Amino acid sequence: MKKIEVADGIHMLSMNVEDILFEGMWDIANGVTLNSYIVKGDKTAIIDGVIGWDGIPDTLYKNLEEINIAPKDIDYLIVNHMEPDHSGWIEDFKKINKDFTIICTDKSAKLVKSFFGDDEKIQVVKEGDTLDLGKGKKLSFHPVPNVHWPDTMLTYEEETKTLFSCDMYGSFGKINENYCDDNLTEEEIEFFEEEGIRYFSNVMATFTPQVKKAIKKTGEFDIKLIAPGHGPIYRKNPQKIIDDYTRFSKYSDGAGKNEVTILWGSMYGMTKKAVDYAEKVLEKKGIKVNKLEMPLKSESEMMATVFKSAGIIVAAPTYEYKMFPPVAVALEELGRKKVTGKAAFSFGSYGWSGGAQKELNEILERNRMKWDFVEAVEFEGSPLQEDLDKVKEGILKLIEKMEDKIVK
Ligand code: FEO
Repeated sequence: MKKIEVADGIHMLSMNVEDILFEGMWDIANGVTLNSYIVKGDKTAIIDGVIGWDGIPDTLYKNLEEINIAPKDIDYLIVNHMEPDHSGWIEDFKKINKDFTIICTDKSAKLVKSFFGDDEKIQVVKEGDTLDLGKGKKLSFHPVPNVHWPDTMLTYEEETKTLFSCDMYGSFGKINENYCDDNLTEEEIEFFEEEGIRYFSNVMATFTPQVKKAIKKTGEFDIKLIAPGHGPIYRKNPQKIIDDYTRFSKYSDGAGKNEVTILWGSMYGMTKKAVDYAEKVLEKKGIKVNKLEMPLKSESEMMATVFKSAGIIVAAPTYEYKMFPPVAVALEELGRKKVTGKAAFSFGSYGWSGGAQKELNEILERNRMKWDFVEAVEFEGSPLQEDLDKVKEGILKLIEKMEDKIVK
């Protein structure tokens, strides 16, 4: 766990977590940070709680001691969001501090009781409610439902103009040394932008309409510093992460980078021949190609890569009268996450009968994905030159469709 003073009277405590499945399902290749913040006035508040998977790590006590705070001196736990990556340590904290008040929304209050029992001292807050900690530190609370659970709120500190944004403006990616944007290298900035896309697509994409509302709400504050629950702090240029999130929310609605992702699978290499051909056609056109062979890629990477691309090629053979299952499963997941409006093209091989295309249509319809497809190409067995010509034709049409969807 690291301790960093991010503003006068405000410390960040951050720990890297690796080798876990985030939310029990996302295989995050580069880890994630869990951040919490201590705001000290006459009274002391801790905003979101860093958990150790085995309870409160000893390093927490050591870090608190170094900023002259004993755990029993913490008066308030500000629970911006009850998901256990932010609140999981309340149970252990109760063992060492019997006298603290939890500040949270009404929806969180319900979960506090169901997660941690009935005996908590809870102060429910609504939009605009404030808490004066003394010595100039004044917090205000601003619910942003469904960013990412119904209970979520933002907390704003007036004196330092700090927005504690919890999941909002977060990203995956562990932090080795540099915790603030003012000392991140160009390479690290790029890394966290990519990890931000991965995080947004994996965790937030379903809630894009609510994220857009939260971006709008952010505009109501005078902000010097954005302090999220995951990823680096933005104090040199907070607008950067607001712009990133604005762009990511457009990716959910079909926009993307000038890249084509080929989401593909192949049983015996017939569809693969057309995939390899498609890759060459796209490269000749100077378009970046991301190939995702399913089921070899993780769901986390698949989501992030499709999400950020303006053009998608779905390439899968027929398998038992339906689509090759690993590709069908990936499409279903994209549908559940409401990745809509992508420009797309599909092709694939069949043997005894077709069926992949029929299932593709069913998945898109069921999930109301509204992807804009050019005409599909299906070929029997190995693709002939005339089939590859049709694939090329489809790709050229796809590139045309992508033009309106590209955002930088
Ligand atoms: Fe970082 Fe929704 O928890």
